[in-house]
Amino acid sequence: MGLEKRFYELGIIPVVAFSDIEEVVPTAQALINGGLPAIEVTFRTDIAAGAIHLIKQMFPKMLVGAGTLLSIDQVEQAIKVGADFFVAPGFNADLITQAWEYDLMFIPGCATASEVDEALRMNIKFVKFFPAEACNARKYISALNGPYPQMNYMPTGGISLENMAEYLEIDNVVCCGGSWIASSSLMQSGNFEQVRENAKQVAEKVKSIRGNN
Ligand code: 3PG
Repeated sequence: MGLEKRFYELGIIPVVAFSDIEEVVPTAQALINGGLPAIEVTFRTDIAAGAIHLIKQMFPKMLVGAGTLLSIDQVEQAIKVGADFFVAPGFNADLITQAWEYDLMFIPGCATASEVDEALRMNIKFVKFFPAEACNARKYISALNGPYPQMNYMPTGGISLENMAEYLEIDNVVCCGGSWIASSSLMQSGNFEQVRENAKQVAEKVKSIRGNN
């Protein structure tokens, strides 16, 4: 199965910033138990590569991405630990060229028509739309679909259980990213039961929106 199809089925990719390596296994286990076996580990914290490595070892079937990639060095670290996909908040041409070299599933960030135009020029047809809510992305993506019907999106930034359905119903939205499912405060307080519950609510909602695809 292509990765994009898997993103579509999952509907929401939990975006997670680990601050302690002890949080990693219980968080991944809670997401899996809740029915959402995917995670984007952000490089906002310096244990990101170690966390990806650990998840790949413990849960080899989980879809594990590297997020908030800002530098070539971070992409190299993520490649070394076996990340399945790579996400950047912005449209960084250096990282896109590097991704080509390694044939990576690389999802750059776009938030304007010019960036979408440039992505298509580089034959990229799946981008993160960031920051979604701050850019009024529910309207913005629908408007972009006019001139750019071939572009596909993963809106991220301000997505919640309450607004996710509106996003998933927009044409060309493959999935969304969101940090509320396994938030830093839930992990730091050891509330992995709530992480599991959040994942379960998301999985049920995605199923009700998209059926059993
Ligand atoms: C990201 O890093 O992709 C976003 O900041 C996540 O946005 P959220 O915290 O609003 O879900």
